[in-house]
Amino acid sequence: MSKGYYSITTPIYYVNAAPHLGTAYTTVAADTVARYQRMNGYDVAFVTGTDEHGQKVAETAEKHGMTPQAWCDSMVPAFKECWDLLNISYTDFVRTTEPRQHKTVQEFWQKLYDAGYLYKGQYEGWYCVHEETYYAESDLLKNDDGEFVCPDCKRPVRRMSSGEENWFFKLSEFQEPLLEFYRTHPDFVRPETRKNEIVSFVERGLQDLSISRSTFDWGIPLTFDEGHVAYVWADALLAYFTGLGFGQEERGDEFEHRWPVQYHFVGKDITRFHCVIWPAMLMAAGYPVAQTVFGHGFLLTKGEKMSKSKGNGVMPADLVKIYGVDAYRYYFMSDVQFGHDGNISIERMTQVYNADLANTWGNLVSRVTNMTKKYFDSKVPAAPAAAADNPLRAISDELYAVYDACMGEVDFTGAADAVQKLAGRVNLYVEESAPWNLAKDPAKADELASVIYNALEAIRIIALYMAPFMPVTSAEVWHRLSLGDITAVDDIEAATTWGQLPAGNAVSVGDPLFPRLDVNDLEL
Ligand code: MSP
Repeated sequence: MSKGYYSITTPIYYVNAAPHLGTAYTTVAADTVARYQRMNGYDVAFVTGTDEHGQKVAETAEKHGMTPQAWCDSMVPAFKECWDLLNISYTDFVRTTEPRQHKTVQEFWQKLYDAGYLYKGQYEGWYCVHEETYYAESDLLKNDDGEFVCPDCKRPVRRMSSGEENWFFKLSEFQEPLLEFYRTHPDFVRPETRKNEIVSFVERGLQDLSISRSTFDWGIPLTFDEGHVAYVWADALLAYFTGLGFGQEERGDEFEHRWPVQYHFVGKDITRFHCVIWPAMLMAAGYPVAQTVFGHGFLLTKGEKMSKSKGNGVMPADLVKIYGVDAYRYYFMSDVQFGHDGNISIERMTQVYNADLANTWGNLVSRVTNMTKKYFDSKVPAAPAAAADNPLRAISDELYAVYDACMGEVDFTGAADAVQKLAGRVNLYVEESAPWNLAKDPAKADELASVIYNALEAIRIIALYMAPFMPVTSAEVWHRLSLGDITAVDDIEAATTWGQLPAGNAVSVGDPLFPRLDVNDLEL
């Protein structure tokens, strides 16, 4: 029975560059939640996609001698392939150039126009095409040549004052409603540091937002003024609606069930769009606001933000080739505390791989399945009554509550740590019980059966908790224990209660799940 609906989104990524470790980070995090909440009994929607309009994409396409549409069409497969490679279980991939997105955007802004939230005016200001954002002069930085540069990407900004008339959204009217909303919904912006930034930004006052462009046409035309296309953010944010079924008759009343989302996952760079502009848009249109916008930190290499343009862009596929997809996912989720910036390196990734995966989880599966082969003819032994009383069970019985709380809070590091503790304890239990000695004494046959049963049962349970992080390995472990399809589990709490491993199940050994790696042998 379903516990209800659960919706989560990643940003809708720009197509000016192929997906990299940063965009993959957000996407893997959202996938980890989506997979977990499915196992936890929710009907999950998981929306991702590509942000294909705007000046930046138009300029990138031109540089490549292509039309914007042809450029977007050529880039989208790179995203889909990367998400397939990383086993991303999205339920909808929205391209902002799709007709259904046109419909959503046009309907939404027409509604705000009709309600009197839009007016035509002129704007002068500093614009960064890369960030597709206006900045106040006081927020700009200067480069070595004395030019104003963008405070985010450090590229020169442009003065936009062509006398261009734009449509403006009365964002300034939402200062008080937003502050009140933050007060009454303390979990709306997370983590806390981001919330403080957002609140003080809004407290300083809000300017109306220009939501249309008429100097170029690569965007969605606004119905009330055909010469204007929607500003890229006035388009992209609405992809969340489209991905959840908005305005698509064939999807029935899905949108009503799936909106508002439990989580928008975004990087800290775009928290402001999601925590100021987006809720104001929703309030104006009369929709409820998302439950939580979680602004995670950046992945850094030696203190620098990792990005392809800075030349330190190792691509996801490069790492997957070395570590495998599951270890890739596990490393980023467990080692970088979600919400904080995190330094990543090959050295550290190898260290985590060897410690947690090769030496702990992989080693555990390998030694216990090998002992089952040796002592019990590759079958799960029947557990004697005394087996129920064991130190693993005590930890396992407590684990769901701890793990579920961590996953609900999107504390992936905490969830992974809790599972690792059980895995570590099983290894110790095997050490302490020394099955190889028990096997020498026929009087200890029951004790031997207990130890092997308990260790196998703990492995079954650990595989369940590891599945959101490492779906392939967990499916393989279940396969080795002759259990069913792990992805069919939809009540992880019930599935992890102790003692469900059937005696007599065939157990196979297989290849090592995570062969040890030596950082000195790795080529990247
Ligand atoms: N198109 C907008 C989002 C519109 S959402 C309605 C956009 N796209 S983006 O392609 O630039 O992707 C930005 C997202 O990528 C960031 O918010 C963040 O999630 C992720 N990251 C990009 N670089 C990153 C790191 N170095 N580290 C972690 N994540 C970062 O902005």
